[in-house]
Amino acid sequence: MLPLAASGDIRHLVKTIAQLPSTYNGKIEMTLNDRDLDIVARNIILLLIAMVVEDIDTASDCMISLWYSALIRESDLKILQQQIKPLISDICDKIAEKPPGGLFGKTWTFGKRSVRVVLEKSAWIRLLSFLDVPTGLDVHQAQKIRTDNTLAESRKDYRDRYLCLISNLHRVAFNRFREDGLLLPFGFPRHDFRVPNPTFFQDETTWPMQDSADPRHGWPAEDVERTPCGPASADIYGKLYFYLRRILPSFLSGLRGLEMASFKLFQADVTSLSDLLEPDSFARIEVSNISDSGWLGIHRTLAYMMPLLQKRNVNPHATLITLFMNAVEETLTDEDKMRDMTPSSASSRRLMRYIPHKGSRVTRYDPVLVKLYMGRDLVTGYDFAFDRYCRQLEPQKIEQLLNAVMKENHTIIDKWPYRLKLRPSQAGAQEEFDRSLSSGLTSKERYVEWKRTG
Ligand SMILES: C[S@@+](CC[C@H](N)C(=O)[O-])C[C@H]1O[C@@H](n2cnc3c(N)ncnc32)[C@H](O)[C@@H]1O
Repeated sequence: MLPLAASGDIRHLVKTIAQLPSTYNGKIEMTLNDRDLDIVARNIILLLIAMVVEDIDTASDCMISLWYSALIRESDLKILQQQIKPLISDICDKIAEKPPGGLFGKTWTFGKRSVRVVLEKSAWIRLLSFLDVPTGLDVHQAQKIRTDNTLAESRKDYRDRYLCLISNLHRVAFNRFREDGLLLPFGFPRHDFRVPNPTFFQDETTWPMQDSADPRHGWPAEDVERTPCGPASADIYGKLYFYLRRILPSFLSGLRGLEMASFKLFQADVTSLSDLLEPDSFARIEVSNISDSGWLGIHRTLAYMMPLLQKRNVNPHATLITLFMNAVEETLTDEDKMRDMTPSSASSRRLMRYIPHKGSRVTRYDPVLVKLYMGRDLVTGYDFAFDRYCRQLEPQKIEQLLNAVMKENHTIIDKWPYRLKLRPSQAGAQEEFDRSLSSGLTSKERYVEWKRTG
């Protein structure tokens, strides 16, 4: 049993099932929660498509469009309207007379698979609206709403800085996606995509994401890069499309091969999950980076989540996984940063191996400065900063008060999965560095696996 407590999208669920060994035909139970209804609604819709659309290719194409593209095809809308809407209308009709406020649950069963959703009445009604294009919103308006955000003049500097980090050919694909917002191979005909994606466009004025939101950031950059996409080998969004066209069918056929698959989706704050979920019942809990101080912070995360994890005498492998995306940065002092920036420091010398430049002759407007600035993290080790952060957490008190200890040896995910794995002189090292530079990650991301003490 696995809950994803601040789930974001369903990529972890998809990847987990797609990667199950073909011999595994047992049970799987997953619980997804996020406090943001836009996220939860899209997750419900994508999962229901996976359940109800029989043909695996049709389901995969529809999921890719709805998940990532600003415009969808009439055939995608037809699936929403004819196959998904009746499922949700049914419960909306049943609770129409109920007073607002309470929670209402509905379980749909599809053979050996089921989806349970628990939402407030108003959220059920809003969920229904995610299946209809807002009245009066045409394709031109929709694209304008989106490009006002993704191509905003006020954000030109941010885009230009990112363009400094990627190759000329990748820039063409990047600009194309910023312009049309369609996750398709570069040369793929676009004329069928003429319906605003109703899971994004909830009204006639708003694009719901930050301009920097990029579908490539959700999937492993190396695996995507390795995916063949025909002669247009620099088509980075085409590669992602073909990667998803491989992983989604694996997910869908994996799902159909399971003895039992049950998914529960909630829209709740992590702090109230203990009212909704059974204590001592989960073998794995993933909370993403709500453990960062800008979200819930590690102490509150452990206080709310540890009691849900199975006790050690029941399952010695039961693990809570937290991700710290900001802890290192927040712990670094000015002195640490200055030390790394001196030309003789180990990171400066390592950086020169990846970004050879003209030293003091680099002018303040040279774009290589952007690469040097962004690349420095990738060549710097931050164990000392994270160790310092851990000492500040007072682990003994965490153990005594919250019944949680950090696992010395990780069994599920690397402690620093986004660090460069190759040394500068090794084959593939430059490609690894360039890929990391454009990935949106800093390599300061640190995972921690926790176990219960009792
Ligand atoms: C903390 S990150 C997690 C990202 C996500 N795991 C992913 O990889 O895409 C942002 C997500 O967490 C959700 N979130 C943040 N704080 C939360 C909380 N206290 N309870 C539930 N969800 C939360 C936000 O709504 C958002 O979808």
